[in-house]
Amino acid sequence: MAYPRHRPRRLRSTPAMRRLVAQTSLEARHLVLPMFVADGISEPRPIASMPGVYQHTRESLRRAAAEAVAAGVGALMLFGVPRDEDKDVHGSAGTDPDGILNVALCDLAADLGDDTVLMADTCLDEFTDHGHCGVLDGAGRVDNDATNLRYVELAVAQAGSGAHVVGPSGMMDGQVAAIRDGLDAAGFTDTAILAYSAKFASGFYGPFREAVASSLDGDRRTYQQEPGNAREAVHEIELDIAEGADIVMVKPAMAYLDVVRAAADVAPVPVAAYQVSGEYAMICAAAANGWIDLRTVALETLTGIRRAGADIVLTYWAVDAARWLS
Ligand code: PBG
Repeated sequence: MAYPRHRPRRLRSTPAMRRLVAQTSLEARHLVLPMFVADGISEPRPIASMPGVYQHTRESLRRAAAEAVAAGVGALMLFGVPRDEDKDVHGSAGTDPDGILNVALCDLAADLGDDTVLMADTCLDEFTDHGHCGVLDGAGRVDNDATNLRYVELAVAQAGSGAHVVGPSGMMDGQVAAIRDGLDAAGFTDTAILAYSAKFASGFYGPFREAVASSLDGDRRTYQQEPGNAREAVHEIELDIAEGADIVMVKPAMAYLDVVRAAADVAPVPVAAYQVSGEYAMICAAAANGWIDLRTVALETLTGIRRAGADIVLTYWAVDAARWLS
């Protein structure tokens, strides 16, 4: 035994002592709030599987965004939900400057300016009628390089609408390089890329599919990663950094904390982790049954994700946690 006389409990004796020696910090600035804005609704629409989370109207989004910024969250990540009749094979509503996501970005950019960091999901699944994250080839497979061309158009539209950060989440090979080149060519050299680098094909996205009214029938296993592949995740992260990613992300978070740690060990850029809809939903459900205490467990999970190495955490509790921590 190396330290036979040491009594670690001495440093746990009072709240002030525990605060002094805390090894992991969790602050509002670390947290990013994902938000949904829907076209063609006149009232905010609750998402049944995600208590407290809404599909917003443009107006309710503006109010909720202002509240989140006032609470001190680090950034907002915006997802658009078009009307069903506006979905098509190309995901045209995503690149349309009058599409719901782009007009909402304009609203928030006008309201908030540089008071927060405005991020946008740069993906096609919300906008395609087949629900895949890319465009399909003649055989119905997701066409990698044709999809990247669409991602460039999405990223340029989002940057033009006021996004400080674009977040390609479709796991196409070469998506970061394509978007970086496209943004630079369009003059958006200061727009950053948060790359969903290691995104796993996960059952934890279930409630999100309701949140964005996804049309997907099938799965994303030809582009998202197999849950067991940690070394491949590091490879994906290294590729994205080489392609110019400004921030790399691991997703989901809780079932992949070893991957978050591995990312933090190799990445010279900030590492983000996304605590996804299913992680949020299952804790809400257990708390609603009185089986666990929501606030204790939510903060414990966020602390755990930070401890694993995440600089930034995307979480549907961003505003609640910011208030709990203040
Ligand atoms: C794809 C995307 C997904 C999520 C974020 N971006 C869904 C998917 O890959 O099926 C999931 C987020 C969550 O579950 O909270 N654009």
